[in-house]
Amino acid sequence: MCGIVGIVSNRPVSARLVEGLTRLEYRGYDSAGIAVVNGQGIVRRRAPGKIINLQHELDDAPIDGTCGIAHTRWATHGRPNMENAHPHRAGNVAIVHNGIIENFKLLREELAQNGHVFATQTDSEVIAHLIQHYLDKGLDAEDAFMACVARLEGAYAVAALVGDTNQTVYAARHGSPLVVGFGEGEMFVGSDAFALAPFTKRVLYLEEGDSAVVSIDKVCVRDKTGTLVTRDIMTASISAVMAEKGNYRHFMEKEIHEQPEALARTMAAYIDPENDIPTLGKAAPLLAEADRLIAIACGTAYLAASVAKYWFEGLAGVHVETDIASEFRYRTPALPKNGAALFISQSGETADTLAAMRFCNQATMGTIGVLNAPESSIARETDAVMRTLAGPEIGVASTKAFTAQLAVLAMSALGTAHARGRLDDDQIKDHIKALSQLPELSQKALAVKSQCEEIAPMLAASKQTFFIGRGVYYPLALEGALKLKEVTYLPAEGYAAGELKHGPIALIEEGTPVVVIAPTDELMEKTISNVEEMAARGARVIAITDEAGAKHFTERASHTIVLPDMPGLTGPIVCAIPLQLLAYFTALKLGTNMDQPRNLAKSVTVE
Ligand code: AGP
Repeated sequence: MCGIVGIVSNRPVSARLVEGLTRLEYRGYDSAGIAVVNGQGIVRRRAPGKIINLQHELDDAPIDGTCGIAHTRWATHGRPNMENAHPHRAGNVAIVHNGIIENFKLLREELAQNGHVFATQTDSEVIAHLIQHYLDKGLDAEDAFMACVARLEGAYAVAALVGDTNQTVYAARHGSPLVVGFGEGEMFVGSDAFALAPFTKRVLYLEEGDSAVVSIDKVCVRDKTGTLVTRDIMTASISAVMAEKGNYRHFMEKEIHEQPEALARTMAAYIDPENDIPTLGKAAPLLAEADRLIAIACGTAYLAASVAKYWFEGLAGVHVETDIASEFRYRTPALPKNGAALFISQSGETADTLAAMRFCNQATMGTIGVLNAPESSIARETDAVMRTLAGPEIGVASTKAFTAQLAVLAMSALGTAHARGRLDDDQIKDHIKALSQLPELSQKALAVKSQCEEIAPMLAASKQTFFIGRGVYYPLALEGALKLKEVTYLPAEGYAAGELKHGPIALIEEGTPVVVIAPTDELMEKTISNVEEMAARGARVIAITDEAGAKHFTERASHTIVLPDMPGLTGPIVCAIPLQLLAYFTALKLGTNMDQPRNLAKSVTVE
């Protein structure tokens, strides 16, 4: 996902534009650039690769100036090289863009017929030319910017410099977020509050279709009808300090270790100490009265939804349909008349999930967001929000957000079961008592990190790794495979343990690592049979189990990772931790950039 920063100030902006970009590195990118109005016109510096390359360009050729924009690009159209890096220019205009302009080919043809010559293959470049086109027609800077925005179709957040001496940043959002920051004698624009955290915590969130004219001491916001509006100035909940690595080597390592406190914070927000009944806020009636639930998300968040299915169906007796967001609305789903839809998302900005949520909103379904970003697009458009209080998750691989999502979903399933009379007060108190042990259990689970570090070289040296599990541990197997894939680039597959014999077992050969997730439960005997099938064909079994289950693997596994006994619904949440640690230490062994893995973005705001 691309990142945008803009500053209008009474002092030089280049260094702080770059600092703002570093706050956006977590989103994933492959080039970066800045453009500054420096009195002699708009001057640009761009570089492929990491921000340090842009810094070197600026060291060699600094830019003075007190008004500028900056960008980190995650390539969608056009290769990730310097030519395609933002800011894009045309005449006296420079722009930075996040999203996809779906009608860019049509606009490009129209502009080319008017003599515009394009330097890149990107969709974004048409924005700069279109603004210049309207300037050439005699419109002033603001009108030219607004006329351009009115022609754009698709998802975008855009910031622009218009005119060689104009100390103003023009901004607009449609499908991709933008915030405006208020400083002392300066104003800011950013993709999120986190980008502006080093400069200000006072921000306003542009709403869908808003545009903004940002000058040194004020911002004028217009809504999608062009009407001047006032948006509330908020104090952003993100502090730059919270997002530092501290004494960890990587954000992923830090965030894995933050899980006990993230779980404690999240649980505390839902448990009424008076009666130990989960308080689910506006989501409660939607969940309690729905005939059927739909749980929709992407990636790891989808796997949290998959675990929740077992809990809601098993405890609350309500049918749950899970789907990946990018498939959901294109399969013309048969929506329930009286249903509710859960949208699980760390960022709250994932385009596929946002689109699926809007589809359900239009179908007048009750929509609930399980979100780590309370000011996100999904948060603003769902009927109810259940927050995960994981804190900023900077590593692209979702770790503490995932376990916080599971904790919220577990409490939601329990609250729904209680509201539907499926669990009485005593039963729910027992479950809540078990969940309240999560901070302590997760802390104990972190103690297996040295064992995971010992196993990592074997995974690093393997052609591929299998992850298997049954019941709620099947989605955990999928999550273990996804974690390993995305931070090590090694092939890995997650399977239902009972499914391997229906084909995938053909891939097992001498030494193939198979990670089996098998805390003690009613499926243990069947899982052991599946492990025997693997071991008989030469697999190297790595068992993740609990104290009571360890005896089953002494002879069968080359490594047995023993977790504390995990009561109630805590198993899938605690088992996520060794899976994360195995991925982390394997990536560390391989030297991959596990905080910003190649090709990946922290939040994918394009469909
Ligand atoms: C998880 O490790 C991945 N980074 C990715 O699958 C992620 O979970 C997915 O893109 C959904 O993101 P969201 O939670 O912000 O919607």
